[in-house]
This record gives sequence, structure tokens and C-alpha cells, in this order.
Amino acid sequence: MKTRITIICENSVSLKGGLGEHGFAAYLETERGNYLFDTGRGQTLIPNLLHFDKDPLSIQKIILSHGHQDHTGGLASILELLGEVEVLAHPDVFSTRYHVSQKDGKEVRRFAGMKFKRAYLESLGGKFILEKSYRRVTREMFLTGEVPRMTSFEKGDAKLFAESGGNLIPDPFLDDQSLVIESPKGLVLLLGCAHSGLINILEYIFEKTGRDQVYAILGGTHLDFASPLQVEETIAALKKYKVEHIGVSHCTGLKAASRLSTEFRESFFFGQVGETLEVG
Ligand SMILES: [Fe+2]
Ligand SMILES: [Fe+2]
Repeated sequence: MKTRITIICENSVSLKGGLGEHGFAAYLETERGNYLFDTGRGQTLIPNLLHFDKDPLSIQKIILSHGHQDHTGGLASILELLGEVEVLAHPDVFSTRYHVSQKDGKEVRRFAGMKFKRAYLESLGGKFILEKSYRRVTREMFLTGEVPRMTSFEKGDAKLFAESGGNLIPDPFLDDQSLVIESPKGLVLLLGCAHSGLINILEYIFEKTGRDQVYAILGGTHLDFASPLQVEETIAALKKYKVEHIGVSHCTGLKAASRLSTEFRESFFFGQVGETLEVG
């Protein structure tokens, strides 16, 4: 059987229908069962699973890319349906985090972390399996764990902060991780927001898998919040890897998505709600 990835939560929808919300989630159908990667912001996960005929009760494990609320907001609603289920994440997924901006000379803080307490999610049945390092999920599927920051041009988003010892510090996003699938066609990389930097993530999965090319990339790249230099350096690096399908969206933003579309032409598609990728 093929592995099929369907985007369930995303900021926008296509003619396939479903609901949009600022967030991300994907449903994976594999020969070893079905998995949920992220849960969106909270309002569209269950309606969209049902809209696309995906049985929420078939989900074997939930995987979280990081603790932002636009990726974890649907966790309670899916746990209410599933009851006891493993949730794979990094220990920092529960960090208290904020988006901080300036308006009229004043600081504006918006809470951006997970909106549920761990104990509440556990009372619903969530069994958190928290790890920092690269790990196997199934025979073909891996979670990156912490990604080393190697490139000089991937700077992170200067408006994102985390609480540490009562102070706000630039969010280190140690919990930011991505899912890797080893398919007969090549590696498939499923991103949450890629806060670690898309090229850092790619270099790390090449190191871990021993491969040097990636067949497909799906998910959020956070390039909407990157400098023009970072966008161009990212495109230059991607060209070296000869990616066949680039289905990014969410925090990629329209400007960076249009640059990627121009550069990668038919390899590029905008990964909206309902878009699918099949491998195997
Ligand atoms: Fe996001
Ligand atoms: Fe994020």
C-alpha cells in the first residue's frame, strides 16, 4: 500500500472544500496504520477529517512538530474522541511562549504556546512520549528531534519568545521537529513550521538517513517571517537537492510561496487543506 499524506488543517482551502484556519495538521495513511501530525488551531481538525472521509478513530499515534497553538490547538478535541493514545513530542512542547510586537511604541504580547495544561490532556487519555533526539516512529517513518543549527542564513523569527526563569528569551525552538518518511521514491519531509530552518532540517535528515536528495517537502517553512536574503539562500540550497514536489504553505506566506512557485514551476504546489501526496 502507498503512503498517503493529506493536509487536514491549513490557512486556506481549495475546490475540494473543508474549512481553513491559521494552523497546520496532516493525516498519514500508511501500511502500518494511520497517524496524525499536528492538530491545527482547534476548530477545523475534526470537521476536516470527516469532510475528507478520514476516520479520526483510526489514528494510532499523534505527533507534534512543536508547541505553538496553531499546531496543538486541536489536541483536546482529538483526545476526547480517541481516549488513550500516544502523543510523540519534545519535552519543550509545553513551553510558555509569546509573539511580541510593537504598536504605537508599546510592546504587544500575544500568547502563542499550547493552550492546554499537560495534566488536562493526560486526563483525556494523552500519553506523552517526550524525547529530544532522532527517533523511529515506524519502520519507514522518523521524527527528527532537535535539529542542529548549521547554516549562517537561517536566523529564526525575532518576534517569537519563550519564558525562561521568569524572563522572556528568544524562543530557542528546541522542540521544533519534522517527520521523515523513507519511501521508494526518496525521502519525504513533513514540516510543522520549520522553526529550525528548512535547510538545517534537510542537512540533518541527510546526515541521519545517509541520503542526499529529498523527493518531497510538505508543510510550513516559516519563510514568511524570514529576510529576503534567507528566502533566496533557501531557494539556492533547495535547487541543489532536486526536490520533485514542494507542497509548502501555512507560515510560508504568499511572497515566499510565489518565489518558490516561480523557481520550481510544476514541482511546486500550494499545500492547502485537502491536498495530498502519495508515495510508495
Ligand atoms: Fe505555524
Ligand atoms: Fe510555529
